[in-house]
Amino acid sequence: MYTQAMDLDRSATPADATFTSEEQAFNARIARDEKIEPNDWMPESYRSTLIRQISQHAHSEVVGMLPEGGWITRAPSLKRKEILLAKVQDEGGHGLYLYAAAETLGVCRAELIDALHSGRAKYSSIFNYPTLTWADIGMIGWLVDGAAIMNQVPLCRCSYGPYARAMIRICKEESFHQRQGFDIVHTLVRGTPEQRRMAQESLERWWWPTLMMFGPHDKDSTHTAQATAWGIKRITNDDLRQKFVDVTVPQAEYLGLEIPDPELRWNPERGHYDFGPIPWDEFWRVVKGDGPCNKERMAARIQAFEEGRWVREAAAAHAAKARARAAAASVASEEAAA
Ligand code: 3HC
Repeated sequence: MYTQAMDLDRSATPADATFTSEEQAFNARIARDEKIEPNDWMPESYRSTLIRQISQHAHSEVVGMLPEGGWITRAPSLKRKEILLAKVQDEGGHGLYLYAAAETLGVCRAELIDALHSGRAKYSSIFNYPTLTWADIGMIGWLVDGAAIMNQVPLCRCSYGPYARAMIRICKEESFHQRQGFDIVHTLVRGTPEQRRMAQESLERWWWPTLMMFGPHDKDSTHTAQATAWGIKRITNDDLRQKFVDVTVPQAEYLGLEIPDPELRWNPERGHYDFGPIPWDEFWRVVKGDGPCNKERMAARIQAFEEGRWVREAAAAHAAKARARAAAASVASEEAAA
């Protein structure tokens, strides 16, 4: 359902004489759809674009643990608790693969985390909304993870090897996350009238913020054109958003839930659903730090980072001792052999 056609039109890839020979070779590799690996030559702007996008993505995964983490102790059954625990743990793992992929570009994780904590780095707007009811956990899985997969499946074929490979496993796990969310919502809509109302009320709060996750319209997107030319982005923000709406509307109909958009209707000429205007003022307010939970999310991350400091220090001291012991043992064995 979330699989997509991703062949790029490379006919416009520039190879003219204004490029250095290194740039021409790089552009030719991109045009042949080859993967770029960490030790390969790459333009500095390609490197910095990747560091920005991959680290924002990593931050989103880690901050994304917070809205759901608070529900682990309140999940309505042991089975739901186990599933949610595994899901939140998966998000932490995704953050880890992505920080590691960013580090292959020559930045260190401490710098990236410092940029997050000091407010210089962005993370996904969606995680600045509160989870008020259990239905919100279903909505995050069904809608937010559904949108995440739609955006992330094309990244499995992005031009930078370590990012593309990290995304393959992440997408497999996201697919499980989406299904567990749909299952929660499906259970609620077959429950009591109060549970159905809870699901409908939650959909009304999460629908528009989910559409915002795909980023600004293509005409207002700073990075789409260049990122697409480099094969980092394969499908634009607007096209991914449209695909998401097209697959999600029939799912909402099946669930008997009403999407809160009076302008939503099938357009037979376009072969897509038309939908109403996205509240971009709200999106930019949230991105700039003034969403319902921005301050709470950052405070929780900084507290977790400070409380984990002694663990990182102990692990680093242990690793340094192990290295020193291994070095001493190798000197001793060389002396014995001499
Ligand atoms: N939230 C916060 N900032 C956003 C945003 C969003 N939803 N969408 C766009 N922006 C920011 C961009 O980062 C950029 O800011 P910058 O120039 O300061 O970095 C600015 O708005 C302009 O947007 P662009 O369209 O030009 O930016 P991109 O080309 O980077 O496109 C993107 C944005 C589509 C999010 C792209 O970066 C991307 O595909 N990233 C990888 C996937 C990702 O990060 N997903 C986040 C969610 S992860 C998740 O949901 C976890 C799951 O477990 C639930």
